[in-house]
Amino acid sequence: MEQLKFDETAAKSLEAMYSSPDVVAQRVRVLDLLGPAAGERVLDIGVGPGLLAYDLATLVGDAGECVGVDLSPDMVAASARRLAAFPHARVVECAATALALPDAHFDAAVSTQVYEYVADMPRALSELRRVLKPGGRALILDTDWRSIVWHASDQALMERVLVCWDGHLHDPHLPAHLGPLLRAAGFVVRRVKVVPMLSHRWQPTSYASGIMRAIEAYARRNGARVGLTDADIDAWRADQQALIESDAFFFSLNRFVFLATC
Ligand SMILES: C[S@@+](CC[C@H](N)C(=O)[O-])C[C@H]1O[C@@H](n2cnc3c(N)ncnc32)[C@H](O)[C@@H]1O
Repeated sequence: MEQLKFDETAAKSLEAMYSSPDVVAQRVRVLDLLGPAAGERVLDIGVGPGLLAYDLATLVGDAGECVGVDLSPDMVAASARRLAAFPHARVVECAATALALPDAHFDAAVSTQVYEYVADMPRALSELRRVLKPGGRALILDTDWRSIVWHASDQALMERVLVCWDGHLHDPHLPAHLGPLLRAAGFVVRRVKVVPMLSHRWQPTSYASGIMRAIEAYARRNGARVGLTDADIDAWRADQQALIESDAFFFSLNRFVFLATC
């Protein structure tokens, strides 16, 4: 199955989805837990369109430094545009497993919705630890797709669509074993919190509506590989539309935030 392509089109749709109120609230939780202070050097791994990095650059101010890294040239371009007004911010194209950054440089690092796409997590966490100062803070947020509660009239069909969607990333259940991975890499896990993405009714501008569009597009490209036909996907989408129109839509999914120090 294909992993998601983080190209220019993806950058635009991520920007829209990540500007929805529930994802804005997620960023507030992340910043609250990380507590970036004026003058600190902070790193955002898998910076994407740069919405969190913008807040980080604002909070550390020009006595600090904010660096974003991303594997995708289109995401690097999008976040560099967003951060252009900050002389103390920059974006570097590199992989989470090979950070083109100096040792023991950063006070804090974040990586939200990124490590679930990374195959070699021991290497990524060793790189994260290398670039942090001793005692530096790491905040990691990822989704466990087993935590989804998404109402459908045909739950078996919903399961098949979600099995297909699991193929869009390397590890759809990373949070469940992230604690041991962090400890093996030499981190001390300080706090773990759940951040739910909840739409108990249909909201046109929400994480749920954005991810439903992404899942439909992905299933149309990849469904055949798991036996999903276009007719199955049409039926799944029509069911959701009927639930939306009868005010019976329900979606909930958990993100997990780990705050660790090294
Ligand atoms: C779902 S987006 C999240 C973006 C951003 N962290 C946020 O929460 O708004 C995932 C990002 O991780 C990047 N990415 C995926 N695998 C990566 C890797 N191995 N190294 C660096 N970046 C990676 C993608 O290019 C994309 O920009």
